[in-house]
Amino acid sequence: MSLEEIIQTRRSVRAFLDTPVDENLLRDILKIASYAPSGTNIQPWKVYVVSGNKRDEIVRAVSNEVDQAFRQPETAVNHQPPFDYYPQEWISPYIDRRRQNGWALYGLLGIQKGDKEKMHQQHLRNYCFFDAPVGLFFTTHRVMGHGAKMDIAMLMQNIMLTAHDKGLGTCAQAAWNAYHDMVLPLLGANQDEILIAAMALGYPDANAVVNTMKPVREDVEQFTVFLS
Ligand SMILES: Cc1cc2nc3c(=O)[nH]c(=O)nc-3n(C[C@H](O)[C@H](O)[C@H](O)COP(=O)(O)O)c2cc1C
Repeated sequence: MSLEEIIQTRRSVRAFLDTPVDENLLRDILKIASYAPSGTNIQPWKVYVVSGNKRDEIVRAVSNEVDQAFRQPETAVNHQPPFDYYPQEWISPYIDRRRQNGWALYGLLGIQKGDKEKMHQQHLRNYCFFDAPVGLFFTTHRVMGHGAKMDIAMLMQNIMLTAHDKGLGTCAQAAWNAYHDMVLPLLGANQDEILIAAMALGYPDANAVVNTMKPVREDVEQFTVFLS
């Protein structure tokens, strides 16, 4: 695939096969991705790659907690993300796009508006990496500024594109952030680290309807101002 094709055909994958991913392939992807730019080349990322028993341990612990937070909403306040990924108060047009994306996903899955149990079950799928055999967690040192998040985003995009080029699928995940206080100790991370994002990685399930989702993009004219 050309670079253009790789970029335009990458999609977030939300159903994976249980086919294991070779560790050498993961190393290759991470090596290639590490050529991402970062401000003054500080490379402020640390990546935890979890599979096997460690993956299962994290999935079990966090899924239980997410389920409990749904059933006993008063416990949900115990789990706050380390930084705001989304705004506290939504405004147009972002809220409209967010809703459109959500309803497109639920529509594909046959989840009706108001069916909170089914929405919850779909949300829970985040916490088993959508059945992907590999999960990635991205952390940085807590002294770092906002720029480190930009740098890590570039690393993540490189991982997603390289993985896609090699026949793998990925889904970037902010969903885990609210459970950073559970995840970081299970990773053996030290007190100075903060969780920036996670990612599911594996071979896409080509038969899963959820993987047919193709979110559209705004036209260039909508988000660009050409000045001369
Ligand atoms: C930083 C980041 C965090 C995301 N977090 C989640 C998530 O927690 N769960 C999820 O299902 N998708 C998540 N996504 C995927 C977005 O929903 C997806 O990128 C968007 O809808 C566009 O679709 P596409 O990736 O297929 O082009 C995330 C994407 C990014 C970039």
